[in-house]
Amino acid sequence: MSFDLILFGGTGDLVWRKLMPALFQAFRHGSLPKDGRIVGVARDDLSDGQYRALIKSRFDAVELAKRPSEEEFSRFADLLFYLRMDLSNAGDYARLGAKLKEHNADTVVMYLATAPALFTVFCEQIAAAGLASPQMRVVLEKPLGHDLQSNRAINESVRKVFSERQIFRIDHYLGKPSVQNLFALRFGNALFEPLWRRETIANIQITIAEELGIEKRGAFYDSTGALRDMVQNHALQLLCAIGMEPPINAHADAIRDEKLKVLRSLKAWTPETLRQHVIRGQYSAGNVDGAPAAAYRQEAGVDAASKTETFVALRTEIANWRWAGVPFYIRTGKRLADRAAYIEVNFRPAPHAIFKSPLGAANRLVIHLQPKDGLELHLLAQGQDNRRTSQTLSPVQLDLDFDKRFGSERVGAYERLLLDVIDGRLNLFVRSDEQEEAWRWVEPIMDSWKNDAEGPRQYAAGTWGPSASSAMIARDGFCWTEEC
Ligand code: BG6
Repeated sequence: MSFDLILFGGTGDLVWRKLMPALFQAFRHGSLPKDGRIVGVARDDLSDGQYRALIKSRFDAVELAKRPSEEEFSRFADLLFYLRMDLSNAGDYARLGAKLKEHNADTVVMYLATAPALFTVFCEQIAAAGLASPQMRVVLEKPLGHDLQSNRAINESVRKVFSERQIFRIDHYLGKPSVQNLFALRFGNALFEPLWRRETIANIQITIAEELGIEKRGAFYDSTGALRDMVQNHALQLLCAIGMEPPINAHADAIRDEKLKVLRSLKAWTPETLRQHVIRGQYSAGNVDGAPAAAYRQEAGVDAASKTETFVALRTEIANWRWAGVPFYIRTGKRLADRAAYIEVNFRPAPHAIFKSPLGAANRLVIHLQPKDGLELHLLAQGQDNRRTSQTLSPVQLDLDFDKRFGSERVGAYERLLLDVIDGRLNLFVRSDEQEEAWRWVEPIMDSWKNDAEGPRQYAAGTWGPSASSAMIARDGFCWTEEC
């Protein structure tokens, strides 16, 4: 099957940081279909040769194991082409048309790694130039809008030109191997399903912590914030994966229908829950990994009096029979104490204690997303003392490290998602109604912040966020992992 992958924003950050390394890995693993072309599109005036040289130089910043040798790059470079285009210029679409005609590929993927403001323009122009065809697929990178209304507007303009089965909305968290394994754990094994409910589970915590700050994205981030950047998409998708009912099969819509039901069941916000169950923070100067880190407001491109949040912690519930009353906590932030993403399923303690066990000890399943990728099941067992029967239990854990088990066979998030787009598999992509529902749910939070003169709570870079986040979870009698 031949394909053309057209990367709009072809000289941008996402392309050289994530997409090209992922495409190269797919090429190295032999999983890219034969007879493919990767065409970078941007406004710079570059020849194919110059574009190849640019991409080659960018690989120097990629981790060594994923960097091509000279010989590998020269074979990979045969796939790379460049097209200069201004997306708002109608005339340039004729040149795009000519480029596509040269190859007449079975599948054409239009990957919009550009500012979302260009999505609508692109769709209008593609239609006007008569280039839209049934074998075309369009990939939309987040953020898809900044609220429900702008998200709908984008979805509507894309749907005027493409049908839903041609639209691939990326949430790269869904492509992470650990998230695949979460689906496998829940729906490929019978072990946990009977336990996956309010009767046995006390609470669920989703943490996506980053040590990194906002890097060079100050202007973008300052108008976005952690709620839009991480919660509305990545964190809610994880919450869906952990909370959804078993789908009837593994088809895209069966999975997406179940995720949508979770989003629809999230407890509606009230003025009181908005006040007590949502904490926003912003980092001040501190130390991350032994090095001094500047305050958010001092970062390039950030307003010196910015009220943008770099941290969010919140508590919600899924209001249905399976989960009623079980708190789901989400927290995410920049410049935190560690880079770690994991989901913790905390089970209720044994109903009747005949042993002594450490205070609050109970079973816990930790699904590590990164940097570690694996499962930990925390149990209680008799300790080392074999001289006499001990009445005291100690915590032990079963540890499954997927990196060790599957090692080099693992496929990274963008590699998997790109291959899925080329093959036309929609399972790991987000449908418009899911996205809209997620916006609908976060909007009351955004509105309440607009009217709150206090702004985010400050936390020192290199810590776990404002203390109010610990106080929020402590009110339910629980604690975040590092505090328990
Ligand atoms: C992106 C956000 O979607 O996800 C970034 O825009 C964030 O701000 C990134 O750093 C985190 O992704 P990962 O895969 O590194 O956890």
